[in-house]
Amino acid sequence: MKTIENINLQGKKVILRSDLNVTIKDGKIIDDTRIKASLKTIEYILNQNAKLLIMSHLGKVKTEEDKEKNDMRIVYDRLNELLPDKVSFINDTNYKNIEETLSKIDYGKALLMQNTRYEDLVNKKESNCDEELARNWASLGDIFINDAFGTIHRKHASNYGISCYLPSAIGFLIQEELDHLNILDNPEKPFIVIMGGAKVSDKVEIIDSMMKKADYILIGGAMANTFLKAKGYEIGSSLYEEEAIVTCKELFEKYDNRIILPVDFFGKTNDKKELENLENISKDFQILDIGTETINNYKKLLQQAKTAFWNGPLGLYEEEDFRYGTKEILEYIKDNVKTVILGGGDIVSASNILGYTKDITFASTGGGATLEYLSNHKEPGLINME
Ligand code: 3PG
Repeated sequence: MKTIENINLQGKKVILRSDLNVTIKDGKIIDDTRIKASLKTIEYILNQNAKLLIMSHLGKVKTEEDKEKNDMRIVYDRLNELLPDKVSFINDTNYKNIEETLSKIDYGKALLMQNTRYEDLVNKKESNCDEELARNWASLGDIFINDAFGTIHRKHASNYGISCYLPSAIGFLIQEELDHLNILDNPEKPFIVIMGGAKVSDKVEIIDSMMKKADYILIGGAMANTFLKAKGYEIGSSLYEEEAIVTCKELFEKYDNRIILPVDFFGKTNDKKELENLENISKDFQILDIGTETINNYKKLLQQAKTAFWNGPLGLYEEEDFRYGTKEILEYIKDNVKTVILGGGDIVSASNILGYTKDITFASTGGGATLEYLSNHKEPGLINME
């Protein structure tokens, strides 16, 4: 893989694709991890006395209203605080207008353009990797650096598209992500995978790929309910995925004694919090977290593990009452397992909320990108980086 340090950026016009897709709530950025994670590459490029155009998507843009909700200016304001006097902003995605503004920017300075997905309003040009759009954007630079790890699994004009027209390399963030995720190609054994979250159907490929190397997979979250239903258990009024029952049965056929399921649960019956055994679940009980016996079972299996990979919380971690299983297991592995990799998205947010991320080997910044990379290593955003 060609990296940013293998390419001469001195005095060049550089296009950088970052993933500045932060979560915004009530008009405020609630987690700026992705902006901070992009700074190393931005600063490195500016220190090469290059002129920098930064691109990123923000949310999804399907209507005019979405444009307002996903205006990149809020990201610019934070970036400007973190890198004062280095970056300007252009509220535009049109290459001609960007070209004009860029011509007035000094070398050693950067310009952040408006959300690349504003181009999705007409024919989804960005997301469908429109050739003309990619060529026009590529005309704004001499070199392309892709550092948007969170979108490597997308074949969009602003990543794969531009890389077809310019000498290209990966930035420090993608490099760091791949270095850590590649540990899982040959994990030190015993290797245990922990998988939670809502949907099995989104995660079949990653489960299949991980089970080729893992000793056990410990299941939690609403995903466990679907597995339990597939085994014929009563799961009360809990969330599950009817369409994925067949998939779960197939996974049992392949890996039965290595797929470990919860045996008790915290949940609610008519709004009252309860701890219930699998055998006693009533029609009104809603499973919302793994229970104490399950936590002990999972800790026993994790006791020997040298490597753990974890994707998806084990309960409804957004609610303090149902964060217990995720918290207990996170706390246990951070202290007892040598190499722990958190696979992006919600489990990283849970670990951030609990203050554990600093003690974890690596927390990936990607969501879908992390899972897809681990499943097949062939991502569109990396294709032209060889
Ligand atoms: C993410 O949040 O996982 C990345 O920024 C990709 O976003 P997307 O799923 O909207 O393409």
